[in-house]
Amino acid sequence: MELFEKVKVGGLSLANRLVKSATLENTATPDGLPTRQTARFYERLARGESGLIITGYAYVHSSGRSYPLQHGADSDAMIECWGPIVDAVHEHGSRIALQIVHGGRQCRPGRDGQALLAPSRLPNLVYFSLPRKMTSGEITKTIQDFGAAAGRAREAGFDAVQIHAAHGYLISGFLSPLTNRRKDEWGGDPERRSRFLTEVFRTVRSTVGDGFPVLAKMNIHDFVPFGLTPVCSFPLARRLARLGLDALEISGGLMENPLAMSRGDAPTAIINRGRRLHIRAYFSSCLAFTRFFQPFRENYFQDYAARLKPDLPIPLILVGGVRSVHRAEQALLSGAADLVSLARPLVREPDLPKKWREGTAERASCTSCNRCLGEIEQGSRLACYQETGNRRP
Ligand SMILES: Cc1cc2nc3c(=O)[nH]c(=O)nc-3n(C[C@H](O)[C@H](O)[C@H](O)COP(=O)(O)O)c2cc1C
Repeated sequence: MELFEKVKVGGLSLANRLVKSATLENTATPDGLPTRQTARFYERLARGESGLIITGYAYVHSSGRSYPLQHGADSDAMIECWGPIVDAVHEHGSRIALQIVHGGRQCRPGRDGQALLAPSRLPNLVYFSLPRKMTSGEITKTIQDFGAAAGRAREAGFDAVQIHAAHGYLISGFLSPLTNRRKDEWGGDPERRSRFLTEVFRTVRSTVGDGFPVLAKMNIHDFVPFGLTPVCSFPLARRLARLGLDALEISGGLMENPLAMSRGDAPTAIINRGRRLHIRAYFSSCLAFTRFFQPFRENYFQDYAARLKPDLPIPLILVGGVRSVHRAEQALLSGAADLVSLARPLVREPDLPKKWREGTAERASCTSCNRCLGEIEQGSRLACYQETGNRRP
């Protein structure tokens, strides 16, 4: 079966074409270091036979930290702490990549009094915050932070890094005409809006060297008015491939429309927990609106993948609504994707790849209820909350 054939990403050999897509774990120490819970989570995934595991996003600098218990890649202390986790993953035959991010305008406000950094001064409509426009010096420094974080990942023994350029975080914020209103060398036209990402990529590549796989996750569509669309994202994907990117995972959506990224039910009761009445009314209508316009269907980004893939000379990773072995295989056989990636189903069933290989299951039992998404937003530990209603287990 195609899905369980070996595949190479850059020079990296993977046991199969099933990827665990990144999910924020909320299991780090307050210093951003992995804990026993982090180790357990990744050991179970590796035992479950995911070919490549991508960690939840790790901040490259404290100014880009989104959650108090998010992992960090901003200090050398992480190198030693991740080492045993990486070794355990390898023992089970899986490979593991560290996803690196700067949260930009989507960080929670009020963390250590640090200002929110963004390409332009535009409000965040989830946290009701107003970021500051980055100076050229801050942009250059942040690019270096990405390089340093990637270097630490390599030293810790990770097999690859994935640059998080999706979902409205800082890099994605630079790519989007909605959130990047600059008129200098970092904005104003598609070429200049993409410069931040290409510079991050170049710096990461020069830090880790040619032999180390560098992946990216990028929005193909922001699904908001005036946002990034395939008109700009497709040529950029091809450019990244020419620059030497090793694989691209495609996605979509910003924080203001999270159900574009993780389609399914709106976890309204969880998101509204502890909020005042008028905010609850606001979030309920926003979630209902985005759920209506971005409904769930299996492999919901496959049409975009099928259009992009013929001109993309590097492996394309399809994420979003992959739920059955049959449709996963079909995505590969149709030529739309080279690998398929799952997030919520593997939080619920880390051994799903093994079950699919052994033929003991055909479908994931994840119902895309999105309670995991609501809970991590509330600061809870990453877990499947499907059967627990709106209560924390
Ligand atoms: C709880 C949760 C946490 C997530 N954290 C991340 C993350 O850290 N980085 C990222 O690129 N995407 C993140 N995502 C998006 C997923 O990686 C994935 O793109 C999306 O959920 C669609 O895949 P699925 O249908 O298999 O869940 C997260 C999604 C969920 C539900």
